[in-house]
Amino acid sequence: MNFPYKTVRDVDVRDKQILLRTDYNLPLDEDGAIADDFRVEASLPTIKYLIENGAKIVIISHLGRPKGEFNKKYSLKQVAEDLAKKLGQPVKFVDDCVGDVVSEATGNMASGEVILLENLRFYAGEEKNDEKFAEDLAKSSHAEIFVQDGFGVVHRAHASTSAITKFLPSVAGLLLEREYSEIKSATDDPNRPLTAVMGGAKISDKIPLIEKFIDIADNIVVGGAMANNFLKFMGYNVASSLVEPDIDETVKNILDKARTKFGDDFEQKFQIPVDVAISEDGDMYGKRVEVVNGELDEIKSESKILDLGGETIERMVSLIEKSGTVIWNGTVGYAENPEFAHGSARIAMALASNPHITSVIGGGDTADFARNWDSLNGGSFTHVSTGGGASLELMAGDVLPGIAALMEK
Ligand code: 3PG
Repeated sequence: MNFPYKTVRDVDVRDKQILLRTDYNLPLDEDGAIADDFRVEASLPTIKYLIENGAKIVIISHLGRPKGEFNKKYSLKQVAEDLAKKLGQPVKFVDDCVGDVVSEATGNMASGEVILLENLRFYAGEEKNDEKFAEDLAKSSHAEIFVQDGFGVVHRAHASTSAITKFLPSVAGLLLEREYSEIKSATDDPNRPLTAVMGGAKISDKIPLIEKFIDIADNIVVGGAMANNFLKFMGYNVASSLVEPDIDETVKNILDKARTKFGDDFEQKFQIPVDVAISEDGDMYGKRVEVVNGELDEIKSESKILDLGGETIERMVSLIEKSGTVIWNGTVGYAENPEFAHGSARIAMALASNPHITSVIGGGDTADFARNWDSLNGGSFTHVSTGGGASLELMAGDVLPGIAALMEK
């Protein structure tokens, strides 16, 4: 897929001061330490490119949702240490992102030097897309070029994704280019058949994505708690399973659209579970018991559906194995408990062991699951996105403000 925006490769970065936006919004553990630094790893190609080409690099990011106030818990200091280890060179941390302290620290940088500034969201102006804050970011860092590489945040119109581009010539980094190209080619120009696997908790979060998939995909598989709403609408007893309130109209519209598209092949090409795995007493960490749909009437009222059943998994895997491209968004069971991770693990296995399939995996939990499952940390798949909301919106065909604001080729 041709990337329509300029990238770091299209501008002369030598001896230039670069303001680089990354998405270092990393998950933290109970003690506040970094739980997963996949996004730091993913930012390395652009940073290394800039270092090798003699740029001076000032990195900005957000972490968490500190709501415009300083909060030590969300400091990026430990990320600077992690990045320094990965790069094998010092990364100076500056404990602010605008103002004199930044201006001083970035005023006399050497080519190849890397500085990481403090969390952008310690200022309310960041999320307000405030122009004055964006101008302060550009001025305090002495930046000459802005590079957007925080793919995970480009669905937000914030000062560091949108307003900043009014003050600096703005190009994409290599991660953004890769994410965009992989996701867009899977949705707009896929090797067919294209199979979309959808899961996760809610339908209401994903209506545009489901509609887009009905338009473009040759097959659709519905799993996760999302599928409970379909089963309930079809008259099955779902006991205490997670379902959304007031969703019947939406489910009906989706089913109507899918029936119109797939016609006589509807049941084969729009796969709703034919059997499920439940926890009988409703404990999410309980044991797996498989039940075919026809026997759901007999389950206890406290039971919860937490995974696809064996027959559904086989049907789904056989569809996946015949596909040229698979887009996977949303785990198809409660994968935190291995008892209910069977469906998601079988998808990962089918994709990893069939290299002819172009596999694109997006959405925070799905990407985490796939990387944890994979001994190559996601390397067994064509593309594992670093974006949650951003990959969902890009897959659904939305225009993302942080990409649209960049200079076109
Ligand atoms: C993400 O993790 O999805 C991005 O960093 C955006 O974070 P946000 O949802 O807090 O805006």
